[in-house]
Amino acid sequence: MSAPQNFYAEVGGAPVFHRIVHRFYEEVARDEVLRPLYPEEDLGPAEDRLRLFLEQYWGGPRTYSDQRGHPRLRMRHVPFTIGPIERDAWLRCMRIAVDEENLSPEHREQLWNYLQYAAASMQNSEF
Ligand code: HEM
Repeated sequence: MSAPQNFYAEVGGAPVFHRIVHRFYEEVARDEVLRPLYPEEDLGPAEDRLRLFLEQYWGGPRTYSDQRGHPRLRMRHVPFTIGPIERDAWLRCMRIAVDEENLSPEHREQLWNYLQYAAASMQNSEF
């Protein structure tokens, strides 16, 4: 699945991605399924990585790859057991963050479809 490369600019660029990912991590911080998965005490660096990845994916700056190399996201998630419960928790947090952003219905649907697909493809456990 590849993203339309003008999406980033159309929705309003960096501030939009910043708000969505920041809101997402506020939810992660108090989620009893997800919080224990994050190895670091400070969620700030994880927030930066997800934000930079999403900005790049949707046509923004390529800072993620400059800093982290090829995304290979499935491989990077192998250390964490991600079953249906973790996937759904991730999507629940993301849903709150996306719904609070004032996107057009078309942009919202595009983004949400992608996030559902991406979360499903990150699953690496049946349970
Ligand atoms: C990293 C969990 C789905 C993108 C991580 C980390 C955890 C995690 C625990 C390590 C935190 C860190 O960066 O230090 C999960 C869980 C998911 C999920 C439980 C449930 C399905 C996704 C999805 C995406 C994504 C759908 C993209 C759309 C990333 C990125 C990183 C990351 C970009 C940082 C990779 C790096 O550069 O090291 N994730 N994730 N994750 N995740 Fe996820």
